[in-house]
Amino acid sequence: MKINVIGLGYIGLPTSLTMANAGFQVIGTDYNKKIVEKLNKGIVTFKEDGLEDLFNNAIKTGNITFTTEYQKVDYYIISVPTPYDKFSKKVDATYVVNAVKDVLNVCEDGATIIIESTVSPGTIEKEIKPIINKKVNLVHAPERIIPGNMIYELKHNSRTIGADSKEIGEKVAEIYGKTTDGEVVVTDIKSAEMTKVVENTFRAVNIAFANELAKICSHDGMNVYEIIRICNKHPRVNILNPGPGVGGHCISVDPWFLVGDYPQIAQLINAAMHINDSMPEFVLKRVSEVLEENNITDYSRVGLYGLTYKENVDDYRESPTLQLLEHQKEHLATPLKVYDPYIKEDIVSNQYHDLHEFLKDVDVVIIMVKHQEIIDNMNLLKDKIIFDTQNVCQLPNVYKL
Ligand SMILES: NC(=O)c1ccc[n+]([C@@H]2O[C@H](COP(=O)([O-])OP(=O)(O)OC[C@H]3O[C@@H](n4cnc5c(N)ncnc54)[C@H](O)[C@@H]3O)[C@@H](O)[C@H]2O)c1
Repeated sequence: MKINVIGLGYIGLPTSLTMANAGFQVIGTDYNKKIVEKLNKGIVTFKEDGLEDLFNNAIKTGNITFTTEYQKVDYYIISVPTPYDKFSKKVDATYVVNAVKDVLNVCEDGATIIIESTVSPGTIEKEIKPIINKKVNLVHAPERIIPGNMIYELKHNSRTIGADSKEIGEKVAEIYGKTTDGEVVVTDIKSAEMTKVVENTFRAVNIAFANELAKICSHDGMNVYEIIRICNKHPRVNILNPGPGVGGHCISVDPWFLVGDYPQIAQLINAAMHINDSMPEFVLKRVSEVLEENNITDYSRVGLYGLTYKENVDDYRESPTLQLLEHQKEHLATPLKVYDPYIKEDIVSNQYHDLHEFLKDVDVVIIMVKHQEIIDNMNLLKDKIIFDTQNVCQLPNVYKL
């Protein structure tokens, strides 16, 4: 059985490798020539624990090739981006629509097109079905893996398969069942679309609750971490940690789809997303208070540790640090210094690529991301003023959210 995976990014690449390792013949297609060239040279295109091994094993099986061309196969897996429209908040399904159109140009009747990209409930019915001009089966198989633990989760997570016909759903479930130990649940397409968005919304709302507590506690001189630690001893309470904001392409994006589609109903979700989005600005405000308390006026000696949206990954899309830098541009003339061990290219001004160089040039360090590097080297900060948004620093000279 041949599978053509369309889109070889954070989701498509590990998915295609996992499929190849499970014994399927896989052709990975991406219209970005650079990605395909790199993969064909044996270079993995992003950092992720275990990805290189997964890649090398897949190549050894002889089951995988990479190309910019779409193929004539039995199964297609679409894993292209689904951003949201910043104005309407609705899902922007353009990439998925275009990828499906490209597939329809080459596929034959009887093929199955599996959409892994996250879409809001009803997107496949409203935006994909009208362009279908062949006898193909449409399936939705949303992906749940988290960067930083992708390879483990690909092998162990439960999956949701949404299909119009139970028979097609079961066939696709059988394919995914060969790649994961987790349960593969078959449902209808709209329910599958909704489950994925709801999962990320659940996370966003719970994070927002912790973030709002951090603001309340900060306002009235209470220690939010102490409060949460004690509350979580209650058998039915499990509060998450507050943080500097939310980034990445899931939790900071997908809940907006529900706000966009159900603006009158999705009030709690709307409020939660605004709270999470307000956190980088809140960090900036707290930092200005800390500087004032220490009689520091020179923002050029303030540095942000971490640019990615979470620890120990190289994905910086929508990251709280980037959001904070946007706010900072509006309010401060002096750009803050920035360092992240995972980002090798220059993506912002005043960016450092060496921890020691960075620390030489700053007196105040804002820990935005809890990369293992800083946890292992916390003693290097002992002479700095530290603002720790992640609650990882136990030094005496530390301020928290
Ligand atoms: N990144 C995550 O952590 C994550 C987790 C779960 C679900 N998702 C969802 O998975 C989907 C993919 O996300 P991603 O992070 O892998 O995106 P990505 O931007 O990393 O990768 C998408 C790839 O698709 C390629 N592409 C786009 N249109 C194409 C086309 N028509 N033909 C061929 N190639 C095309 C792009 O060149 C890019 O390499 C999104 O819907 C996202 O919401 C992402």
